[in-house]
Parts: sequence; C-alpha cells; structure tokens
Amino acid sequence: MRQLLVNIDHVATLRNARGEHVPDPVRAAEVAENAGAAGIVFHLREDRRHIRDDDVLRLREVVRGIFDFEMAPSDEMITICSRMKADYATLVPENREELTTEGGLDMKRVKEDFRSRVFPPLKEAGVGISLFIDPVPEDIAIAAELGAEAVELHTGTYANATDPQTSRLELERLRDAAVQVHSLGMRVNAGHGLNFENIHPFLDQVPHLQDISIGHALIADALFRGLENTVRHMADIIAG
Ligand code: PXP
Repeated sequence: MRQLLVNIDHVATLRNARGEHVPDPVRAAEVAENAGAAGIVFHLREDRRHIRDDDVLRLREVVRGIFDFEMAPSDEMITICSRMKADYATLVPENREELTTEGGLDMKRVKEDFRSRVFPPLKEAGVGISLFIDPVPEDIAIAAELGAEAVELHTGTYANATDPQTSRLELERLRDAAVQVHSLGMRVNAGHGLNFENIHPFLDQVPHLQDISIGHALIADALFRGLENTVRHMADIIAG
C-alpha cells in the first residue's frame, strides 16, 4: 500500500531561526498524522541544526504511525535510534556543509562497515533498516545482501531535472530500481524533492511503492493552505 510519511525537519528549522518554541515540530507531527500521514520522518543531524534530542523524545510519545528516524550511520545516532526503538532507521550519507542530503549511500564503500558495525546493533534493537540509495542496481543488490528491510530510492535527480529527457530517463531508472528492490523482497520507499507537480508522473510510472517521504514541498505549501489541508491532499494523491 502506498502511503505518505511527512518529514517535519523544516518546522524545526523555522522554530530555531528565532530561538523560540514555535512552531513546534511535534505539533506538526500530530496534525500531519491526523490529516492522513502514515507516519513521521525526522533527521537528527550531528549538528542538531533542526531537530534536537528533546524533539525526538517528544515525538516518540506522540507519533502513532511509522516512526522513521533518518540519520547518519554514526555510533551516536545508532545508540539514540536503538534506544528510541524506531520502526525504521533510514540511513543517509551526511556532510556537514550540505544544505540537505545530496545523494544516496555509496554501498560499495560502506558495505563492510555496515555489515560489522551498523546493522548488528540496530537489528538487535528491533529497528528496521532502510537504506537511502540512488537507483543503481549494484547498490540495491548490496542492500539486499546486507539484509536491509527497505530501500528508499533517492528521487532528487528526477525531481531536480530541468529538461523532459532527463526527467524521462530518471523515471525509467527509478522504475527499474523499484522492480529490483521489490524482487529482492525489500520494501520500496522513495523520497527527496517530490512535490505536488512531479509526484504524478512518478506515481504513474514507478511500481511497488510503499512509504513516500516528503518534507520541504509540504511545509512550503502549508504556509498558504494550512498543514492539515496540505497533508490531506498529498496523502490522498499518494494513496491513489
Ligand atoms: N528522504 C530523505 C532520505 C531525505 O534526506 C529527505 C530530506 O530531508 C527527504 C526524504 C525529504 O526531502 P524533501 O524535503 O525534499 O521532500
């Protein structure tokens, strides 16, 4: 079943801009779930630039659906995520200077480290592991070999394409990748850069999708429509 997970990082960004307590990302999570989101995603970064440790604790209290903890594969995050008993740890590469996550994991490079250091404690804690990966067959094969529960396909290149040909090619890569992830028995998730326009061709052409994670476009739209209306609209589009 296709469903929307709402990333609330940007609510925290706005709050932190003034060093105040509002808007509260936890309240946003409650509104999003009440409006049809199947769960909440947040990225606790090393520099705590948006979501903070206290937010994670409060989110754990209120989130009723999927609790998806996006994180760098650092020892610190593995410890926090395991303690929180997240439904999923979505593992992403994290660079200090980046404005947002810039691409998928290079699975060939991280494979042995993930096998020995990252996967065992998360599995031991019962946390499902989702790997944020570009639509590259070799990387997807490694995700399956390691025993990941899910692959989150990086849709950023598709979303940022400025010409129809690139957009079409990227959709084909995403479609093939989704077929491969599904055939290997993993959950097919997706996210990054999706919005009310580019979501339609994406849903039309990419099969087997389950959790679709969207942040920036929803929070931006919510300024004008209200978060409840925004989330309800996108949740309906995704459910089909
Ligand atoms: N999925 C992952 C792994 C991400 O890093 C992000 C951005 O935080 C998203 C989904 C959501 O992307 P966007 O904010 O562009 O919708």
